Amino acid sequence: MKKLTYKFSNSSVDYYLAGSIAHLKEIVDKNSAIIITDENIYNAHTKRFKGWNTIVLKPGEEFKVQETANTIIEQLIEMEADRKTTLVGVGGGVITDMTGYVASVYMRGIRFGFLPTSLLAMVDASIGGKNGIDLGVYKNIVGIIRQPSFILHDMVFLNSLPQSEWENGFAEIIKHACIKDAAMFRELESNTLKKYQAKKTAICELVQKNALLKTKVVQQDEFEKNERRLLNFGHTLGHALENQYELSHGQAISIGMTYASHISQQLNGFKETARVVTVLEKYGLPTYASFEKDKVFNVLKMDKKREKSEMNYVLLEKIGKGVIKSIPIKELESIIKGL
Ligand code: GLY
Repeated sequence: MKKLTYKFSNSSVDYYLAGSIAHLKEIVDKNSAIIITDENIYNAHTKRFKGWNTIVLKPGEEFKVQETANTIIEQLIEMEADRKTTLVGVGGGVITDMTGYVASVYMRGIRFGFLPTSLLAMVDASIGGKNGIDLGVYKNIVGIIRQPSFILHDMVFLNSLPQSEWENGFAEIIKHACIKDAAMFRELESNTLKKYQAKKTAICELVQKNALLKTKVVQQDEFEKNERRLLNFGHTLGHALENQYELSHGQAISIGMTYASHISQQLNGFKETARVVTVLEKYGLPTYASFEKDKVFNVLKMDKKREKSEMNYVLLEKIGKGVIKSIPIKELESIIKGL
């Protein structure tokens, strides 16, 4: 199985991008590993978990909270997990976040790795080391940045992925193209979701390209002082909408990217909003939405990207080139309310 190793500031991560869950036993010792997954994944792939110690959680973002972390920790104590234990998150973004978070606080930190099973987790959530939980409407407000020891991909899990989860993953792929890769944006424009779903080599290549694009951005700026902030394109408004309107993450950031393109037009002379909107809609994502501006702005202003009275907002200069603009909160308030 091919292994690529990427170095981050305090650690390195082994990537097995063309692997299979059958290879997991070559990466971690079965006796000292505990898998964390959810009921959907477990029920659809039960035989793949045979012989592994497994904690099965209820699926859903509403369970990405401290209470779930406490329940996992109680089970780890019961299973006598110690500092030699490796936690393996097998699932989508909720599972990878929860696994990385618990592994980072249990006994002040134990080893962990990921087998992302959703498109979104493969191209985004499993990469970068940010692992957090939500509190009320505040997404990922509590968490850490700590890299997993390994990431293992097994494309078989995409076979059981619902359509809405494909769309969710494509939202992050389109985001990567908007901020960093004009050629990939053109590829997305000329392709369709159906084509990617039907052609295994095309989706494998796209997944690997996106996983490595994100990895390179994070390697340059692991603790999000500069370059990494670009990955937040669409996320400032997106996160503020996500829990208040029960949107999926992909839907929320798609709306966020639509309005960030409009703000880019207002403040940065960006001229390609229509192309961004067309591509989002082509991949089944929502773009324009009516929302309560006051209510959403009150959550948005608490975003982690705020620095005192300014918000670092990710805008586009052109397709393939994202830029950070510091916008005074007062000005941002009137922009959001005028959208
Ligand atoms: N866990 C996702 C990230 O670090 O961006």
